[in-house]
Amino acid sequence: MPSLICPVCSSALKQSENLKNFQCEHLHLFDLAKQGYINLLLSHRKKSKQPGDTNEMVIARREFLNRNHYERVVNEFEILANKYCSKASDIAYADLGCGEGYYTERLHRLFSQNSNAVTTCGIDISTPAIKSACKRDKSIRWVVASASHIPLASASQDLASCLFFRFDAHEVARTLKTDAILISANTGPEHLIELREHLYDDVKTEKAETSFTDNDRLEHLYTKNIKHQIELNSHTEIEQLVSMTPHYWRAKPEKKQALLTLEYLKVSLDIRFDIYRRTSAL
Ligand SMILES: C[S@@+](CC[C@H](N)C(=O)[O-])C[C@H]1O[C@@H](n2cnc3c(N)ncnc32)[C@H](O)[C@@H]1O
Ligand SMILES: [Zn+2]
Repeated sequence: MPSLICPVCSSALKQSENLKNFQCEHLHLFDLAKQGYINLLLSHRKKSKQPGDTNEMVIARREFLNRNHYERVVNEFEILANKYCSKASDIAYADLGCGEGYYTERLHRLFSQNSNAVTTCGIDISTPAIKSACKRDKSIRWVVASASHIPLASASQDLASCLFFRFDAHEVARTLKTDAILISANTGPEHLIELREHLYDDVKTEKAETSFTDNDRLEHLYTKNIKHQIELNSHTEIEQLVSMTPHYWRAKPEKKQALLTLEYLKVSLDIRFDIYRRTSAL
């Protein structure tokens, strides 16, 4: 059971004997949804009625990733996790902004196969994403919450990942044990360049990386760049790729429609993994 904390008062949450809810010592109560997730997102922390990725985006990402187009990316993620978090004993792992759980499930499976006792928690602000993630693996604790207020105890995690989403480095570092590892993934300047050339008249370099300060207590250890091309063989695959990215919101409808008349597109992936180590408190 991950070290969940109450989003109201930050004291430890305990699951009831009938497993139907979680409660803290101040009697704040959170029900387990029928799908098996727990919602720890307080309504005043929601910036919109339905924050995070929509159901349509979640379905598109799930179907696209299940086609194994990102196989090399997930393989690299596994290699890095194995190398930097090769503990013999129990591992507490949190995937923040986990989406529909593709990467979360892969790491959970990897550590389980390595015969580690692994406690995995997938956290995302999107309820449709977490509902979809519940179908992947019931032994993972799936939680709706904001990664800006992570409902995990301080210094409780051996490994955290933040893949393709801008995160609050200080808050993530709070949840890590000393010497624990953070793996982040971001897109580079060439990422999906061919797709963007179809969608925009003026293709800009995207800059969506998290910035760090000394105060975040995260020491940068290593960077791995992955660049290769993948082939999309139908307009369905092209549409799924657009729908799982910010271009879903940004691109003009007429540009999207024109792109979807294509039945083939070769696109570049340009992805950068970074590894950080949580240093001791300042
Ligand atoms: C581009 S998706 C990446 C999902 C997953 N990491 C993957 O690579 O398949 C970004 C995810 O971050 C989630 N998200 C956005 N803001 C968030 C926040 N403040 N806290 C937690 N999740 C957030 C979105 O709902 C979405 O699922
Ligand atoms: Zn409480």
